[in-house]
Amino acid sequence: MHSRNSSDVLVVGGGIIGLVTAWRAAQRGLRIALADPEPGGGAAQVAAGMLAAVTELHYGEETLLALNVASAERYPAFAAELEEASGRDIGYRACGTLAVALDSDDRAHLRELHALQRRSGLESEWLTGRECRRLEPMLAPGVRGGLRVDGDHQVDPRRLAAALVVACERAGVVFHRGWAERLSVVGDRAVGAVLADGTELAADQVVVAAGSLSGKLAGVPVRPVKGQVLRLTVPRAYAPFLSRTVRAVVRGSHIYLVPRENGELVVGATSEELGWDTTVTAGGVYELLRDAHELVPGITELPLTETRAGLRPGSPDNAPLLGPTEVPGLHLATGHFRNGVLLTPVTGDVMAELLVTGELPQEARPFTPRRFSAVRQEQSV
Ligand code: GLY
Repeated sequence: MHSRNSSDVLVVGGGIIGLVTAWRAAQRGLRIALADPEPGGGAAQVAAGMLAAVTELHYGEETLLALNVASAERYPAFAAELEEASGRDIGYRACGTLAVALDSDDRAHLRELHALQRRSGLESEWLTGRECRRLEPMLAPGVRGGLRVDGDHQVDPRRLAAALVVACERAGVVFHRGWAERLSVVGDRAVGAVLADGTELAADQVVVAAGSLSGKLAGVPVRPVKGQVLRLTVPRAYAPFLSRTVRAVVRGSHIYLVPRENGELVVGATSEELGWDTTVTAGGVYELLRDAHELVPGITELPLTETRAGLRPGSPDNAPLLGPTEVPGLHLATGHFRNGVLLTPVTGDVMAELLVTGELPQEARPFTPRRFSAVRQEQSV
């Protein structure tokens, strides 16, 4: 007989990655439990929600690019299905992105990015400074050129998380509102987890999807990378302040401004290796506002409504850890670093397929967690 505390799959972590895994697997007929003190919380509460497969392309990350693009392509259908399942709007907006350069170094950097994008078969168009300002009149007069990427969109991560909670509830996912203190392993097999209050949860398979905390829980190489983010409000009289996401690299730091239809303007983000610290600092806010002001001087007129810091789950190669571990029954869906919101649809699909069939789909195989244990074993020989 099945009790509330036993399930086919226990998902540890109720951020967007844990929720999408739970939702997709429940849709496939599995009995799912999810443990998290606050489902729908986590890094999604801070993230800006850029779906930036093309503008966040980095050298050496071509394998990750394929997964990012696959997920971006799934977003329109994913958003429609999730909105239908939850009755909630997730703020998916096909607004495009403009990446601009403020000086000749930035422009050279963007030219390189443009060449890499073209070699990778991605669509982007080089614009002069004047053309950039024609698209976005609030840009600084000094903008020297930019890349127009009409395929990089946005979603509102807070709405996404809230919709996933409702979709999970409607699909029969059982929520346990507590933190999983440790995983239960019997013999060599993962069989569940024990919550902080002592509750024992049993499951045939366990997925650790606990964001930056996954490293602590499952002993995997995932670390917290702090990001400070600001939220401002564009008064109706100023709208449209920006019509698409605008981003730049200013003195080596990435800055982006993501305008929502409801008037929210998200400005991010710092990238700091400071362990578990989530303090919002004067220095972080200053740097973001200084760089945003260089890009869009009118920003100083807007009300500043929120400052917050979150923790990206960083992995050694900046790519996620998806799939089975060397412990039978224990799977990972974590380490999404800068791409958690973008990778939500494809992560749900591949994890559900794995949980139902035992096979990790082809597109996720390069991201097996075993790639790191293989390295460790080679090093120990
Ligand atoms: N992808 C944006 C960030 O991590 O800041």
